[in-house]
Amino acid sequence: MSAAVPLRVEGICKRFGGLQALKDVSFVAPAGKITGLVGQNGAGKTTLINVITRQLAPDAGEVFAGPRRITRLAAHQVAGAGLARTFQQLRLFANMTCLENVLLGLPKGRGESLAACLFTPGRVARQEAEHRAAARTILEAFGLGDRADASAAGLSYGLQKLLSLARLAAARAEIVLIDEPTSGLSGEAVERVASAVAHFRNEGKTVLLVEHDMDVLFALSDHVVVLDQGQVLCQGTPAEIRTNNEVREIYLGKGHVA
Ligand SMILES: Nc1ncnc2c1ncn2[C@@H]1O[C@H](COP(=O)(O)OP(=O)(O)OP(=O)(O)O)[C@@H](O)[C@H]1O
Ligand SMILES: [Mg+2]
Repeated sequence: MSAAVPLRVEGICKRFGGLQALKDVSFVAPAGKITGLVGQNGAGKTTLINVITRQLAPDAGEVFAGPRRITRLAAHQVAGAGLARTFQQLRLFANMTCLENVLLGLPKGRGESLAACLFTPGRVARQEAEHRAAARTILEAFGLGDRADASAAGLSYGLQKLLSLARLAAARAEIVLIDEPTSGLSGEAVERVASAVAHFRNEGKTVLLVEHDMDVLFALSDHVVVLDQGQVLCQGTPAEIRTNNEVREIYLGKGHVA
């Protein structure tokens, strides 16, 4: 396993027309830890993930993966810099099997080069077999081993969420960004997804977790950043954030903070 790297966000600003969605957002997500990102609907959480992974260009500010500045990379180069994400709308390949969905998450292999297929077919076939074995191991780690050949569309929503996390694990990124993994779930499905998120930290990954369920977020996070209307309101340990008066004012009465 390569060494974990911190994710550093410095002075990020992003405007959509008249709306300042992110304003001077700065924080560090420490290496090998889970950083929880909280905020009400529309606070800018997904926009920040989109900026970090370069689906959106910031108007100002920088993003660093360890020592490497990634702000100028194109979206397709971000995976090469060791970042991978999930989406709020899962974006699974519904008509493919679970195994195929995870295979598509793996870093690109030689089998995708026509020249490699023509001139080193044995090596390509060997690599294909290795990839399938790796994908099965990942599915097993996420409790989906018995669903490898089932279509993604046929899974319950909870299992689809687990599959999106399995596909994320396949990318073997050092920094993972996970957007609302438990939304729409309840009961045991929440627990399964929460332990799947913890799995990334256990593997030494740096995790940025967006999560509405405060119990889940506080239980999983080592560090918490609160976004309010596009700005960092405060950050600290879960215990500090739980007792922070400004946070309580925003969330109390809405049943968010116990
Ligand atoms: N592509 C876009 N064009 C215009 N406005 C956008 C765009 N993406 C997001 N916004 C706006 O920016 C603000 C922040 O949105 P964002 O999706 O980042 O919030 P969020 O914190 O992820 O909310 P939620 O908890 O509902 O997922 C919202 O007001 C949203 O309507
Ligand atoms: Mg969002």
